Amino acid sequence: MRLDHLLAEQNISRKRMKQLLQRGQILVDGRAARRLSQNVDCGLQTICLEGKAVQGQPHRYWILHKPAGYVTANRDTEKATVLDLIEEDCKEQLYSVGRLDRDTEGLLLLTDNGPLGFQLLHPQYHVDKTYYVEVNGPLSPDDVAAFAKGIVFLDGTVCQPAQLMIHSSAPFFSRAAVTLSEGKFHQIKKMFLAVGVKVIYLKRTHFAGFRLDTDLAKGNYRPLNQEEFQTIKRFLEESW
Ligand code: URA
Repeated sequence: MRLDHLLAEQNISRKRMKQLLQRGQILVDGRAARRLSQNVDCGLQTICLEGKAVQGQPHRYWILHKPAGYVTANRDTEKATVLDLIEEDCKEQLYSVGRLDRDTEGLLLLTDNGPLGFQLLHPQYHVDKTYYVEVNGPLSPDDVAAFAKGIVFLDGTVCQPAQLMIHSSAPFFSRAAVTLSEGKFHQIKKMFLAVGVKVIYLKRTHFAGFRLDTDLAKGNYRPLNQEEFQTIKRFLEESW
């Protein structure tokens, strides 16, 4: 959450917050806070005000293995949503960081830390995502070069350079992995259409340094491990 929202929960007035900030009396893991809008998490960081630790609610983070057939939304009048996969007592205020299409599988980060989710999706932070892809045609080194240069969609939209790694290629079926840092609507499907093939299976395997474990079954979710919490901490520090 934002630092000022945390301090407001402690009944600290806006005026007082500004004074404390100016005097360097708000410490986040021992460093003077620079902005009241910076993103913090009491569960991962020690936040001290005039030498006293602030007690707040830690944020929650889950990695979900999204199966096909679920929409990435908190609510839908007709279709099952990814939150339907989460137990009732865990899902309050939870939302997914980014979207996967209904027919896409793979890694979704769920959190109640709104500003962090916003940060991870912001183009400024260039957060990498990797997808495993199966397509209905051949892939060639020319396609690798086209992805590296920046694919141009059929409607003229220009994408940033992306890395295409071909696992296998045959006339009617190829497998590959793509790493990119953008998140345009249906981006992967449109990128492959631009080189003349259709995506027939799509799975996100990596997001922002998190990896989908092979033993996390479809539809299951788990909390972050210690190493992954360090990744979140690094993002929080970048938000300074
Ligand atoms: N690109 C797509 O085309 N679909 C997804 O679900 C994610 C990325």
